[in-house]
Amino acid sequence: SGEVSETVSTGSSAPQPHPLAAKKPSIKRTPNDFIFGKTIGEGSYSTVYIAKEVSTSNEFAIKVCDKKFIMKERKSEYIMREKTVLTKTNHPFIVRLYYTFQDSDRLYFVLEYARKGELLYYLTKLSSFDMNCSRFYAAEMVEALDYLQQQGVIHRDLKPENILLNDRMHIMITDFGSAKILKMDGTDKEDANAKPSSAQGHRRNSFVGTAQYVSPEVLNSKKAYYSSDLWALGCIIFQFLSGETPFRGGHEYQIFQKVCRLDYEIPEGFNSTAADLVQKLLVLDPTQRLGCKEMGGMNTLRQHTFFEGIVWEGLEKQNPPELV
Ligand code: ADE
Repeated sequence: SGEVSETVSTGSSAPQPHPLAAKKPSIKRTPNDFIFGKTIGEGSYSTVYIAKEVSTSNEFAIKVCDKKFIMKERKSEYIMREKTVLTKTNHPFIVRLYYTFQDSDRLYFVLEYARKGELLYYLTKLSSFDMNCSRFYAAEMVEALDYLQQQGVIHRDLKPENILLNDRMHIMITDFGSAKILKMDGTDKEDANAKPSSAQGHRRNSFVGTAQYVSPEVLNSKKAYYSSDLWALGCIIFQFLSGETPFRGGHEYQIFQKVCRLDYEIPEGFNSTAADLVQKLLVLDPTQRLGCKEMGGMNTLRQHTFFEGIVWEGLEKQNPPELV
């Protein structure tokens, strides 16, 4: 049935276990191993708390899901997706899952704590970012997306509220409940999540990410592409620099129409190099976006003039520019 397995494997694809992950116990944790603090996030089917592990004083973000609610609302697929992705990823810009456990009523995901919260908070506070900040945070996203693609993962709901920040102000991408997991080699678009055709009927078209960032191919419910995340990246870079998403409207369907028609305008005064990049990411055809396989891959994206000055090696060890 829709049972969610509670075992985390560190995954054979993980090259080096994270230091904290290495402390993964052979005995399952329980809620009593943590002191739960305030709520730091609320989703449609989960609540995230800050929590301190009693034995180590380490702080974590614990995502708690109500089992009855998940079964009633048929959300177990989302939970399993998220767990599958987080179990196989090991990257500084992807939120880490340390342990999972459950009690009779709830599921618990013990996650890396993003001390500085959502990138959206800073974007809202500052209205927009300068070129230097936009370039740096876009570069970290490029690194994360390249890694996800290598792992066969399409996020499908990238947006500033799913980009968290650690204590050093580096990004941590979260919320993989909407992710699509493709075959590992990344060369085909075979859908590893596909239901048998009999089950497909009532599920088809069920997923659309967030209107402002959704790509035309996801809207038209065609195949998922890695470059659907590149579309979202284009929307996010536009938003970093202008403070607004490119496709806006009073209702979702108005946004959807604009997306499908590529109906957006580069604002006056928008940096011309950034405009060139945005125009090469916001392309209706998913095989024609800068950075996609057909267009020469992620290195081609890294080489765009927008990223001039970025030292791609070891971004996570660099000091991010102060957000202004
Ligand atoms: N909100 C949701 N997930 C979070 C995390 N891992 N850290 C901080 N806040 C969060």
